[in-house]
Amino acid sequence: MIDKIVQIKEDNQFLIKEFLKANPVARINFRYFEKRSLSTSLLKNHIVTNLYYEGLVCIGYGHLDKDQDIIWLGIMVSDKHRRMGFGDFIMNDLISNKDVDSIYLSVDKINLSAIKLYLKKGFKMIEEKSDIYIMRYFVTIQPPSAAE
Ligand SMILES: CC(C)(COP(=O)(O)OP(=O)(O)OC[C@H]1O[C@@H](n2cnc3c(N)ncnc32)[C@H](O)[C@@H]1OP(=O)(O)O)[C@@H](O)C(=O)NCCC(=O)NCCS
Repeated sequence: MIDKIVQIKEDNQFLIKEFLKANPVARINFRYFEKRSLSTSLLKNHIVTNLYYEGLVCIGYGHLDKDQDIIWLGIMVSDKHRRMGFGDFIMNDLISNKDVDSIYLSVDKINLSAIKLYLKKGFKMIEEKSDIYIMRYFVTIQPPSAAE
């Protein structure tokens, strides 16, 4: 069970480096930090940058990255903790962010486990490229209840 969510800031970015280093298999499909170097200026574009812990063990990573007007989601679960419900937990945490109304992601066409997770969470395929899909999620704004 995730019992701690650590927000990544300037002074603890090294935790992401450690997590990536410890999980070479998951990194094959999560290549966000291969195309970008981890830096304070990169994280400034993020609405959320979180590491998720069970006790002292880092289980997963998730972010919402704002690129111009588009919010992109990124997620990675530790190699040893896949298929245990953590991806689902992290997705719920990211998509429940109240400050966004729409979230995009890109996923390799061959990454069937991630695609299944995204479809389950309500993402829809909106574009197909040669080897990736672009998917989009609309954050539903709940109308205030009659009691409020
Ligand atoms: C994709 C990823 C985040 C899924 O996380 P996870 O913790 O393993 O997923 P969960 O255990 O929470 O599973 C949630 C749902 O995802 C789908 N799913 C996850 N792994 C699956 C698998 N191996 N086969 C089929 N479906 C799978 C299922 O729909 C599952 O729901 P269910 O258990 O009710 O069937 C994880 O595998 C991962 O980090 N992969 C490497 C990095 C990556 O691919 N990141 C995404 C880049 S776009």
